Amino acid sequence: MVGGMVNHADIGVIGGSGFYSLLDDVQEIEQATPYGAPSDPISIGRIGTRRVAFLPRHGRDHRFPPHRIPYRANLWALRALGVRQIIAPNAVGSLRAEHGPGTLVVPDQLVDRTTSRAQTYYDTGGAVHVSFSDPYCPAGRETALRAARDGSWQTVDGGTLVVIEGPRFSTRAESRWFTSNGWTIVGMTGHPEAVLARELALCYTSLSLVTDLDAGVESGDGVTHQEVMAFFAANVKRMRTLVTHVVESLPDERACPCPSALDGIRLPIDLP
Ligand code: ADE
Repeated sequence: MVGGMVNHADIGVIGGSGFYSLLDDVQEIEQATPYGAPSDPISIGRIGTRRVAFLPRHGRDHRFPPHRIPYRANLWALRALGVRQIIAPNAVGSLRAEHGPGTLVVPDQLVDRTTSRAQTYYDTGGAVHVSFSDPYCPAGRETALRAARDGSWQTVDGGTLVVIEGPRFSTRAESRWFTSNGWTIVGMTGHPEAVLARELALCYTSLSLVTDLDAGVESGDGVTHQEVMAFFAANVKRMRTLVTHVVESLPDERACPCPSALDGIRLPIDLP
């Protein structure tokens, strides 16, 4: 670890399935939160001049299924370490035949089909209603798309990520319904991560890697756990390179609307 404030970072990366490490020379921090422990100790290190905190969403041994991930603790812990911009790689199924495995979608919309997850920090002491019309950071999206195109990724600029409760995959009927609604990709972890980031006035950018065609799009036996894991694992090196480039090119100053998400709202709790 290079000197300086070791328990401080500006940018957070929340790694998805199979993406369990990012940085080499790290300090591991066990960051407690009012919502319990995050999925794993957080690794803090450097990419170029940027201080980065890395957290594997499912834990490094993948012990948390999507509906059991401590989302509130994860986002809170990152903010407590100073993080204000979050890059969130995740595996998704495609709802469009033309966006096959290997496509990198940077969604601009989200549909919440989850049912059991705590999705707010503001449970007691007064209501807080954050705006969520545009769930993702526009500056983060632009940076991610530029880095992905520079890295020769097949990219999709925008699209709707539908987040299902899981842990099962969708039926063909559900999947066809998602497609017929005009939605683009389907995953299990993008919510409540995105809204919790907004509730903490953080920038949040999803890097959605298509690992499979979802059940309504493909004509075979449907999606399997093994298929998703194997595809993501085979692409982790590439994703790591992409995330590194995104981190290096994120703007230092946040000129996006994200820092103002809580302006004018009386907060019933103190944020870290
Ligand atoms: N994650 C990766 N592929 C998926 C799919 N087809 N449905 C939901 N989540 C996924």
